[in-house]
Formats: sequence, C-alpha cells, structure tokens
Amino acid sequence: MATVIIIGGNRGIGLSLCKQFRDRGDHVITTCRDDIGELNPSDIQVIQGVDVSQPQGIEKLQQAFEGKTLDMLIHSSGILTNESFEDLDFDRIRAQFEVNTLGPLRMVHGLASHLKNGSKVGIISSRVGSLDDNGSGGMYGYRISKTAVNMVGVNLSHELQPKGVSLALLHPGLVATKMTGGRGISPDESARGLIQRMDELTLENTGKFWHAEGYELPW
Ligand SMILES: NC(=O)c1ccc[n+]([C@@H]2O[C@H](COP(=O)([O-])OP(=O)(O)OC[C@H]3O[C@@H](n4cnc5c(N)ncnc54)[C@H](OP(=O)(O)O)[C@@H]3O)[C@@H](O)[C@H]2O)c1
Repeated sequence: MATVIIIGGNRGIGLSLCKQFRDRGDHVITTCRDDIGELNPSDIQVIQGVDVSQPQGIEKLQQAFEGKTLDMLIHSSGILTNESFEDLDFDRIRAQFEVNTLGPLRMVHGLASHLKNGSKVGIISSRVGSLDDNGSGGMYGYRISKTAVNMVGVNLSHELQPKGVSLALLHPGLVATKMTGGRGISPDESARGLIQRMDELTLENTGKFWHAEGYELPW
C-alpha cells in the first residue's frame, strides 16, 4: 500500500485521482482550501486550509507529516482565467502565476524531506504551456504560468534525481471540469491515464512532459 498525496483533491481531476488511488488500496491524503466537496474523510484523509499560493498551507502539511514518508505526490490545484491581448489584467495574470507555478514549487519544496528513494512526483501542467504547440495565442496568464511550471518541474527533477525521486510533468487532456465549463473527456478517464503515467515513471524517464494518453509533448 503506497501513501499518496494529491494537492487539490476536492473536485475535478484531483478528486478522480483520489478515488482511483483509494480504490486500488493506497493510503490517500488530499488537500483543499475550504470546501471538501464530495470527499469522504472516512476513507481519504483530508487536510483543509491549504491554499497553495500561501506559505501557511505548507506549514500545515509539514506538521501533519512529521516523521512520515510519501511514496507519491501529485499537484493538481490550478486556476484558469482567460486574458486576451485586449483584456490584459495583470492582477489575474499574477494570480495564475502564484497558483499554477509557485504553488507546485512551494508544495514540492516543502514536502521534499518526506520523499524517499523510489518516491514519485507528478505536476499537472498543461499542453497550453507548450511553446511549440502554441498555434493560437491568447490565455496570457494561464499559458505563461504553465510554461513556467514546466521549467519548475525540470529544475526539480534535477534536484530530486540524486535522492532517487522521479518527476513527471503531465497534461491531463481536455477534461470536463469546472475549469473547462464541462467540455472534454471525463475526469475519471483522464485520471486513469495520469495514474498509468505515474506507474511508468522512473529515474530513467524523469523530467519529461507527458500527455495522459502516454506520448511525450514538446516543450
Ligand atoms: N480540465 C482541463 O481540461 C485541464 C487541461 C489541462 C490542464 N489542467 C490542469 O489540471 C489541474 C486540475 O484542473 P481541473 O480541470 O480539475 O480544475 P477544477 O475542477 O477547476 O479544479 C481546480 C482545483 O484547484 C483548486 N485550487 C484553485 N486555487 C487553489 C489555491 N489557491 N490553492 C489550492 N487549491 C486551489 C480548486 O480548489 P477550490 O475548490 O478551493 O477552488 C480545485 O480543487 C489544474 O492544474 C489545471 O490547470 C486541466
């Protein structure tokens, strides 16, 4: 039985990840801000009050995990606001950078001492952050924040590899959640692919950017 933590498991893709790890018998811990959503704390341990853009969240997690190790950490929390060139709101752009880029850096850095030889880290990025794949522009804050989190992930993979910890940047597909207004494949289908990618993650293929369907994405 592996111990898995999902950052942001109260809804969307994070919730499906929690349920699927639980169903295969893993010990699942998840975080949320206020609303626990559909989570049932009797079979999934829920740590409330974790805003990934704030330092207090990581302090709370560190207290909860004192002396414990984690086999897997997946950062799912993220936000999308849609800035066009005509509607550049720098506060919104900054907010996405805080949550989507600095959030995963803060969480992985803060929990790194609980990762051991063989542990795995997944960061849910987005294909929208791929420079090579950007054929349409727009979504300024989201694109910038996801490109930057890819760099965070590659840096972290170099940091963690000597400890025996591998890391994957993951694109979940277009998934029907609140973020997309319900467009796309089901969160359960996406989570199945993401879990397969985590199962296949090794120190040999660490630091790469994967589509949930199993192929590598360009940076
Ligand atoms: N859906 C897609 O098609 C798609 C495609 C590519 C990438 N992604 C990425 O996949 C991840 C999950 O997205 P989703 O589709 O599941 O979206 P979602 O249903 O909108 O869920 C977003 C999650 O992020 C949490 N969150 C937002 N701000 C937070 C903060 N400051 N601190 C902690 N948690 C915060 C939300 O918690 P609250 O309930 O507290 O707001 C919620 O649990 C995101 O990183 C997203 O960028 C999604």
